[in-house]
Amino acid sequence: MSLNHNDTSIAIVAVGPGDPSLMTLQGREILENADVVAGFKTVLDVVQPWLTNAEACPMTYRDQEEVLEYVESQALLGKKCVVCCWGDLNVSARELLARVRRRAGKVELTPGISSIQMACARAGISMEDAVFITLHQRRGASDDFASDVEEVVHFLKDGRRHVILLPRPYDLMPPGIAKELVSAGIAGDRPVTVFQRLTLEGEKRWDGNLDECGEITEEFSDLSIMVIFTGTGEGPDSHE
Ligand SMILES: C[S@@+](CC[C@H](N)C(=O)[O-])C[C@H]1O[C@@H](n2cnc3c(N)ncnc32)[C@H](O)[C@@H]1O
Repeated sequence: MSLNHNDTSIAIVAVGPGDPSLMTLQGREILENADVVAGFKTVLDVVQPWLTNAEACPMTYRDQEEVLEYVESQALLGKKCVVCCWGDLNVSARELLARVRRRAGKVELTPGISSIQMACARAGISMEDAVFITLHQRRGASDDFASDVEEVVHFLKDGRRHVILLPRPYDLMPPGIAKELVSAGIAGDRPVTVFQRLTLEGEKRWDGNLDECGEITEEFSDLSIMVIFTGTGEGPDSHE
């Protein structure tokens, strides 16, 4: 069978924050019935148990276009193709979604649990009391960073919402971000929590304030999330 581009379909399945038991039943069923499953290696590791019938296609940032081209060729042959995405697909995954959308007439999305939901659950905060900002974007120009920091500073000064921040491995990590915020005028005693490797082996939590965070010299995992709390005295909730 050979299809036209407009008739092809690729599923995108979000696999959750790392612990395979946090994958949705719908996502699992799609993977069990798939012919071809592509994703970054760490993502495929999570879903490996359900790839009984599928050809697994690991990809890296460098070869992702070639791997997706192969997925497209299989979708054109009528195979059931899936691209997996970490956490939830509506959170800091725009670039991957756009790449897949260019490769199929129809894209079916199965959301998952985001690492930012896990951070909210661990910190005991509600999403409606928080704003989410990602520095994890493949842009890189220094004035982009300046405008991202400006946005973080804006919400911190406004003080109504906690800021959930995804750092950018490894050049924009929590200590550097904390220093930057203090030099932009945010009080150094503003409470901060950094979560690392949520739901995974070696999960860690650090609680302190911006000044203390700026002094940390130990290296953070690429899977790190900062929560900077409102200045209203409502600090990190350490109840698990
Ligand atoms: C490109 S973003 C993708 C986010 C993903 N779509 C989600 O919903 O979690 C990757 C960033 O998410 C954060 N992240 C993802 N999983 C995490 C985890 N298990 N623990 C801590 N941070 C995590 C880290 O900041 C990491 O650099």
